[in-house]
Amino acid sequence: MSYKQDFPIFKTYPQLAYLDNSATTQKPQAVLDAMNNYYATSCANVHRGVHLLSDLSTTAFDQSKEKIATFFGAKNHELIITRNATEALNGIAYGWASYNLHAEDVILVSLMEHHANIVPWQELSKRNHTKLVFINLTADGQIDLADFENKLNTFKEKIKLVSLIHVSNTLGTLNPIGEIVTLIKKYKINCRIAIDGAQSAPHLKINFSKMGVDFYAFSGHKMLGPMGVGGLLVKEELLQSEEMKPWLFGGGMIESVYQDQTIFNSDLSERFVAGTPDVASVVGLAAACDYLEKIGMDKIEDHERQLTNYALQELSKIPEIKIIGPLDPEKRLSSVAFVYDGVHAHDVAQVLNQDEVAVRSGHHCTMPLHLSCGWVATVRASFSVYSTTEDIDKLILALKKVKTIFK
Ligand SMILES: Cc1ncc(COP(=O)(O)O)c(C=O)c1O
Repeated sequence: MSYKQDFPIFKTYPQLAYLDNSATTQKPQAVLDAMNNYYATSCANVHRGVHLLSDLSTTAFDQSKEKIATFFGAKNHELIITRNATEALNGIAYGWASYNLHAEDVILVSLMEHHANIVPWQELSKRNHTKLVFINLTADGQIDLADFENKLNTFKEKIKLVSLIHVSNTLGTLNPIGEIVTLIKKYKINCRIAIDGAQSAPHLKINFSKMGVDFYAFSGHKMLGPMGVGGLLVKEELLQSEEMKPWLFGGGMIESVYQDQTIFNSDLSERFVAGTPDVASVVGLAAACDYLEKIGMDKIEDHERQLTNYALQELSKIPEIKIIGPLDPEKRLSSVAFVYDGVHAHDVAQVLNQDEVAVRSGHHCTMPLHLSCGWVATVRASFSVYSTTEDIDKLILALKKVKTIFK
């Protein structure tokens, strides 16, 4: 199956093996059309006007937001629109942790986190004097559940937040969120659980209502949607009780403003929309959700699992390559990263680029992971719904040239 014909970029670059999907995905025509159509037919500011276009724009925004929330198995008001996963994770830090975490409280993250799930907590710790504690990984790049239990046992009620990546953007590891939630309950830790879903939302069916977590962050641009829009899913009870508060303030989110105070909008969805939202991008993301749904998330997961297995199998035949992350295909999803013996990752990527193979090289915003494993940089090939085994064949063929150039 190939969906490339739905993506205009492959008409511009028909030979391109685009294997940098963990960084961002290409956009289908349906998403471009939805955004263009919004600007051509319905552009006006939302929620403030009574004229026709304002009404059309508000309807487009509201319906799109509803669509995105449903895609993730969440209620409409559990979805806070953000610019991306980074802003969503910062939203947890500013809108929840700032108010609820205090000196000596512990935030648990793993060593495989993206910087977006590390730096906001380091900054919070400077403000609130909380402690950031890292869970170790096993030798094959999985969360070390024994170390996790050990830390649950050591820090006990001090732990107020466990914030974990769902699918690692570097190792490809698919973390067992269900098992982790069960362990937190087993140790009776009364903490909130946040999931960085930037790399799971594009590849897995997410049902927020059944995940047993409090927060889930994602980026639209990694799941075929436009850049500039993402979301934070927040459990309803945290919003109703105002345990989670808005972190951006201004027009749009208010009921009334007086010189000495503001009454905020009682509508949970609107309370978090400060200022003019990026309506066209929300419309585009809803179109991306539609596109993914029409294919079916289960089918997408199967397809990407097959590609990952094929890439693992073919890459492991090249003696100079050391694959990082779990070798058990069941434990990983949608990307394979590796070290090429004796050649810097950027040089490998340059050689591949000459043959129109686009991969990412560097630390992939996971410096603590790279430092702890002694990798200067790694090369990552990552897949999306439109990726094919031919793309991987091109990658392998181009990789074989590296040896002839550098040895
Ligand atoms: C796991 C993970 N979390 C967070 C992010 C940040 O996403 P964004 O740059 O869209 O905010 C990324 C981006 O690569 C990611 O892979």
